[in-house]
Amino acid sequence: MAERTFSIIKPDATRRNLTGKVNTVIENAGLRIVAQRRIQMSRAQAEKFYEIHKERPFFGELVEFMISEPVVVQVLEGDNAVARYREVMGATNPANADEGTIRKLYAESVGENSVHGSDSAENAALEIVQFFKPEDIVG
Ligand code: CMP
Repeated sequence: MAERTFSIIKPDATRRNLTGKVNTVIENAGLRIVAQRRIQMSRAQAEKFYEIHKERPFFGELVEFMISEPVVVQVLEGDNAVARYREVMGATNPANADEGTIRKLYAESVGENSVHGSDSAENAALEIVQFFKPEDIVG
């Protein structure tokens, strides 16, 4: 089933000029980048985006990291895009990520783990509208 998911290429990856390399892994996995924009996330945007983690001990660090440098926000489309992208990203902690995954290839730590991907189709829809207008997504 064709589906959309929301992706962020995080500051540790944009800082190292890895946007193209990450996109190659995404495209080789059969996912199409149907919207993409490089932005400097505001503190308010980052706090809202990660609201579900606000009680976690790493919340402050996570927000600081996400606003530390520009990120690339994306909408990916493909069959089972949510699950497929989670496979391609690899485990949250790069130490546990499978060979060939984005996090195994490029991530530096559990906090600075190069990419975000939605964990459900429902959350993907909620995340996409935080960063894209419908007309900016061209499938
Ligand atoms: P993400 O998929 O963007 O969603 C929540 C993020 O919290 C997660 O990726 C990690 O980057 C971050 N995170 C999870 N666990 C930790 C941790 N123990 N320390 C710092 N950041 C974490």
